[in-house]
Amino acid sequence: MKKITLPLIAFIFASTIAFAGTVSAEEASKTVNEKCPIKGKDVNPKCTYDFEDQTYAFCCGDCRTKFTDDLAESLYSQIGGKAAIDAAVDLFYTKVMSDKRVNHFFENVNMKRQHSKQKSFISAALGSPVPYKGKDMRAAHANMDVTEADFNVIAGHLQATLEELKVKPDLIEKVMAVIATTKDAVLGTKKS
Ligand code: HEM
Repeated sequence: MKKITLPLIAFIFASTIAFAGTVSAEEASKTVNEKCPIKGKDVNPKCTYDFEDQTYAFCCGDCRTKFTDDLAESLYSQIGGKAAIDAAVDLFYTKVMSDKRVNHFFENVNMKRQHSKQKSFISAALGSPVPYKGKDMRAAHANMDVTEADFNVIAGHLQATLEELKVKPDLIEKVMAVIATTKDAVLGTKKS
C-alpha cells in the first residue's frame, strides 16, 4: 500500500507543479504585446504595466509613462473605467428596451452580445487601451433606416443613464460629444 501511495503522491505533486508552470508561461505570452503601443518598436519584456487583467509591454520607460498618463487622463478612466462602463451600458439598454419609440429595432437582436459589443465600443471610444473588434458603425447600422430622431432618443437614454449614475456634468458633455461623432455613420449619411 505504502509503495503505491508514495509514487502516486509524488506523481500528482510533480504534475501539479508542471501544469501550474505551463499555464502561467502561456498566460504571460498571451497577455504581453510584442510591439510597443506607443512607438511600435520591439518591447523590452521587463518594461510592463498591468491594467485590467492585461499586461502591456513597452520599448522604454518613457513610453510606459506616456501610456499610463494618457490612460489616467482618458474619459474612460475619468468616468470610472470598466465598472462604470459596464453599469452604464446595462442601464442604458434597460432604458432603450423599455422605450417603444426605438425598442423595435432590437427585436431580433442578441442583446447579450449587443451589451458586450457596446461596452467594447464605448470603452475604446473613450480611451480604453483594449481595441474594439466589432463592426464599424456604418456597417453595423446599414439598412436599418435609423432617423435623426431615433438617434437623439438613443443618445438621450445614454445621457440620462450617465446622469442617473452621477457622472459629473462636464464629463457627460464630453462623452456625448464623442457619441455625436458616430451620428453620420449610424444614420448612413455623408460626413458633415
Ligand atoms: C448613439 C450612437 C450609437 C452607437 C455608439 C451604437 C453602437 C453600436 C454597436 C457597437 C453595435 C454592435 C456592432 C456589431 O455587431 O459589431 C450596434 C449595433 C446595433 N445598433 Fe447601434 N449604436 C448607436 C446608435 C443606434 C441607434 C440610434 C439605433 C436604432 C435606433 C441602433 C440600433 C442598433 C441595432 C439594432 C444593432 C444590432 C445590429 C445587429 O446585430 O443586427 N444603434 N450599435
